[in-house]
Amino acid sequence: MDQDTESQHIERHYATGGIADRVLSAVRATLKPGEALTPDALAPADHFHGRGLVATREMVALLAPKSSDRILDIGSGVGGPARWIASKYGCHVTGIDLTADFCRAAESLNAATGMSTQVTIVHGSALALPFPDASFDRAYSQNVVMNIAGKVTFYREACRVLKPGGILVMSNLARGSGSEPDYPTPWAATATTSFLSTIDETKAEIAAAGLEIVAFKDTSADAMKAQVATLNRLQTAGLPPLSAHLIVGPRLREYQINSNRNFVEGRIISLEVVAQRPVT
Ligand SMILES: C[S@@+](CC[C@H](N)C(=O)[O-])C[C@H]1O[C@@H](n2cnc3c(N)ncnc32)[C@H](O)[C@@H]1O
Repeated sequence: MDQDTESQHIERHYATGGIADRVLSAVRATLKPGEALTPDALAPADHFHGRGLVATREMVALLAPKSSDRILDIGSGVGGPARWIASKYGCHVTGIDLTADFCRAAESLNAATGMSTQVTIVHGSALALPFPDASFDRAYSQNVVMNIAGKVTFYREACRVLKPGGILVMSNLARGSGSEPDYPTPWAATATTSFLSTIDETKAEIAAAGLEIVAFKDTSADAMKAQVATLNRLQTAGLPPLSAHLIVGPRLREYQINSNRNFVEGRIISLEVVAQRPVT
């Protein structure tokens, strides 16, 4: 499959209209009179990855943003993590994403939370970042590389736009020792647009792009605990009023059931990685 066709398949998997309206009306229904619509209030609905805000907080602890930093979020989804980080740390975050519907939703949610100055959204591909060399202090990417066949290109582009010494923090789903994952998953309807590397392949791909790995952790035990809790809740109480179903619709249920099985049977694992652009 050529790059354009692959991108179209990926975007088709994620694309859905009306996201911002669904998120805003569901979140507003939970606010007390006079309570502000903040990135924190949106967080149960707009962080589109396993373990939601908990995972974002862990990633941000590694990112350690400074208020003067310009930060890049690669594969920013509907902008939940970008808004949350910008609001907590006072830094500027640029989010780039392939899915036009997600970018539109991110811009509406930025406006609704008063974050449009601090968070810029760009519709584009991680494989050809439309930014000059060395234009960001730090970068992060949460649960995105599973959609990327050309991982060395992805990492090389991240390295190029980072200033020397700048870090890229990632959470990646990766291939476990079990059999092929069951689909659909949150990132792919079928195996055609799912690209999972093993731990060794991930390390080699990052190194091949010229980044140095400074921290590498298998976070599967935490992910699995959360998956089991999510599945139990799904079976007893159904989807909560605020969750990623407001982004992707009721298909989230099937994604969660498959993700649980994929983790429990070792078909997928989750990784947390910090990589650095060398200083020289
Ligand atoms: C599972 S979602 C995660 C979104 C966001 N990082 C979050 O955690 O809320 C994966 C995202 O990666 C984006 N994506 C996939 N391939 C991409 C590419 N080549 N360039 C930019 N974004 C991409 C998708 O559009 C989707 O928004």
